Amino acid sequence: MNLNEKDTKKYILITLIIMFIGSVALAWYMSSNMHTDVSKERFRLTKIYKKIKDETYAYDKVKGKQIYMNLCMRCHKADGTGSGMYPPLLNSKSPIIADPAKIIAVMVHGLQGPIIRGVITYSGAMPGFKRVETTDLTHVLNYVRTELNTFEDIIPHILVIEAKIDTITRATPYREADLITTKN
Ligand code: HEC
Repeated sequence: MNLNEKDTKKYILITLIIMFIGSVALAWYMSSNMHTDVSKERFRLTKIYKKIKDETYAYDKVKGKQIYMNLCMRCHKADGTGSGMYPPLLNSKSPIIADPAKIIAVMVHGLQGPIIRGVITYSGAMPGFKRVETTDLTHVLNYVRTELNTFEDIIPHILVIEAKIDTITRATPYREADLITTKN
């Protein structure tokens, strides 16, 4: 082996080592960054949680409707009748709307079809709204339950925050079968 060949091998080896260290460092950096995002968000929500724990939440129908028009109307229609691949929310027999724990979960993380409603199978997907503030989420889901349907109980804000904290690392929408029912 002449000197040149030896040098080339040395350089290749050094380059490989540098690439290896680089990728380990990058992976570490990315995972620690993700971790910081989650713990920051958990901290932020826990602070709000503690603050509102003793507060009484008042459902605001006007706000609920406003948020519905901003976030939900484009798929479920202004009057909640839905269309095509979007199920109706008005006078719905949906077991999701009937169950506070289920509708909260779907609001936060979304829903992946198929779901069967009457004779129709909906095979779409709804995005979650975890970036929307929890008070707004609470107003809109109370709007869906009490104005578009005939439920009379108001879902408290605290349940939405709890659900958000408990599922903070979740990144995918729910399938209907995975939804956990409200414990009685
Ligand atoms: C981008 C379109 C889109 C938007 C925006 C949207 N949804 Fe949906 N939603 C869907 C689809 C699609 C489904 C059905 C998913 C499936 O096929 O399983 C659905 C399902 C639902 C269900 C379950 C219905 C049932 O029969 O069980 C509820 C409740 C719901 N949406 C509420 C809302 C609310 C409240 C908003 C606004 C905050 C909203 N959605 C915004 C597309 C949307």
